[in-house]
Amino acid sequence: MRRDATLATNFPKDRREKLAYHQGVFTQLAEDLFTLEQELRFRFGLTLLTRMTVIRRGRKLWVHSPLPGPKWYEGIRKLGDVTMLVAPSCHHSLFIADAKRQFPSAVLAAPSQLMRARPELAVDRALTTNADPHEAWPSGVVTIPVLGAPTMSEHLFYDSQSRSLIVTDLVFDNARGSNWITRRLLGLFAPTGRPVRSKEWDWWLIKDRAAFANSLSTLSTLAIDRIVGAHGRIMADVPLAISIMKTGRPPTAQLAASANGNS
Ligand SMILES: [Fe+2]
Repeated sequence: MRRDATLATNFPKDRREKLAYHQGVFTQLAEDLFTLEQELRFRFGLTLLTRMTVIRRGRKLWVHSPLPGPKWYEGIRKLGDVTMLVAPSCHHSLFIADAKRQFPSAVLAAPSQLMRARPELAVDRALTTNADPHEAWPSGVVTIPVLGAPTMSEHLFYDSQSRSLIVTDLVFDNARGSNWITRRLLGLFAPTGRPVRSKEWDWWLIKDRAAFANSLSTLSTLAIDRIVGAHGRIMADVPLAISIMKTGRPPTAQLAASANGNS
């Protein structure tokens, strides 16, 4: 089986044991919002803290970007029944097939671009803007496709119940490198210190800037308390993170204040 990421094992033992992943214990962010985190090793030795997110409605669980099993397979049953598995972009599908095998009755949803590129995944439904929601789709969750970047085809999800925006790779905060190669790569693609949008988006992912900007135009109108990314810290400075998503830069007012402070 093709594997592009594995569990990282080069972290100090005490640090690994602190990660709830190894106990399959989810963190509760809001009444029906849960996360589980794990450090994964990708190509070239890159290691990133990676997060799966779960939204619950009754006993139905909507699972975003599943982590590798089997640690969480039992733990999640304490929360409810997995009824929908979501691959939110063409790049976040590494463990979705394993999860589908573990929860065969769950509906697998993914971008239409991924359905065409990976027919062996047997995706059940293409992600849409909820014009035709499936019965397993959680109430109050809206899909926001990020347009103009077709090779990524990332989709954002707004949960109005928990006032949370779930993001995959469009922005992340302080994805600290735990080894030399990770620090070098993050320094090149995503200098840290605040939420960042990887330079990949400007360098090659965004093909249609007008479509990209237009697809994110509604974000500023949503009541958002937190932004839950698939990597790094959960972001509470929502205006900053949204500005980074849209433009790659902080809001103009923050830039001006920073410039004044430095003068
Ligand atoms: Fe990612």
